[in-house]
Amino acid sequence: MFFDKLEKTILPPTTVMNSSVTDVTDTAVASVSTLVARHRRNSEGLQIIDCVDGNKIITMNDPELYNVANSLQKKAAVQCLNEYAQKIHWKNIGDSAIDLGCGDGSVTVILKKYMPSNYKKLVACDISEKAVKYANEHHSDAATMFRVMDIQGDLPEEMNSAFHHVFSFYALHWIRNQEKAFRNIYNLLEEGGDCLLTFLGYTPIYSVYNVLAQCSKWKSWLKDVNTFISPYHDMQDPEKKVTQMMEEIGFRNIDVKVKEMLFVFDSVEAIKNTVKAIEPFHMPKDVYEEFIQDYYTAAQEIGVIEINNNNIGESSINCKYCLLVVCASK
Ligand SMILES: C[S@@+](CC[C@H](N)C(=O)[O-])C[C@H]1O[C@@H](n2cnc3c(N)ncnc32)[C@H](O)[C@@H]1O
Repeated sequence: MFFDKLEKTILPPTTVMNSSVTDVTDTAVASVSTLVARHRRNSEGLQIIDCVDGNKIITMNDPELYNVANSLQKKAAVQCLNEYAQKIHWKNIGDSAIDLGCGDGSVTVILKKYMPSNYKKLVACDISEKAVKYANEHHSDAATMFRVMDIQGDLPEEMNSAFHHVFSFYALHWIRNQEKAFRNIYNLLEEGGDCLLTFLGYTPIYSVYNVLAQCSKWKSWLKDVNTFISPYHDMQDPEKKVTQMMEEIGFRNIDVKVKEMLFVFDSVEAIKNTVKAIEPFHMPKDVYEEFIQDYYTAAQEIGVIEINNNNIGESSINCKYCLLVVCASK
């Protein structure tokens, strides 16, 4: 049985963990002045910052990798924008917008296509300096700029009430302090402004992490697993919870929906790359290769992915998940 094999233990070598700790003077942390943190480098896609308040921030450490493994995120952004862009109250006289947690900037580029062509300003921000640098190098122009900013930190003064629209795609589930992030979104908006936000609810990738976290083989690597799981993954009624929080903050016209999404990966390699681009466990390459094999097998055994084989030996993989889509105004 597959799960019996997982009783063998693979321990994270202390040397790897210790050598990856740097002190608070590191540039990525220093640029986000509200954080007093120590941070650990991930050899793969992400970087984890441990804050003094005990919260962890997951940031993008490898925008190049994300850029070639984010088809799922790009497809979902297009689907949501197709459905919701006409509900946004575009001013058509020089709209200003902000995209929170923009990562490599490829979804910001998609967003631009839905904005009136005479928009005045599009600011996209991310807590990861590397992601912002990559996005600025590849996607900035006269009206579009990328900058480092923490969605759950204190907002720069000049950003208060500075935007007609706030967008965020696939980022808010990484935020531990949801209330602060939503309050910030409210404060970024001018009176009458609106927001469109998408973030993960129930997601099979997290269920697989939970299963592997209980096996002695992966337990030590996945000990912080709860930190990386969307706060809405196991929630009974996330629509109600988000609506209540937004009402208390003062939002109006709140529309929160949980959408069941299906993404079809066209190869085993494609799903493995997607998982790798958002894998937060600091695994060195050789350990990660074994992990992803077990991940894939566990995902099949617990039924969170379905494999379709055609008669010429190719497989595609169905992956279902839930996306929270929020539209509201100030
Ligand atoms: C999965 S990526 C999504 C990127 C892009 N929006 C997309 O749809 O492809 C999530 C991004 O949120 C960023 N992020 C995480 N915590 C953040 C925070 N506190 N403030 C700003 N960005 C944050 C990460 O660095 C990462 O780039």
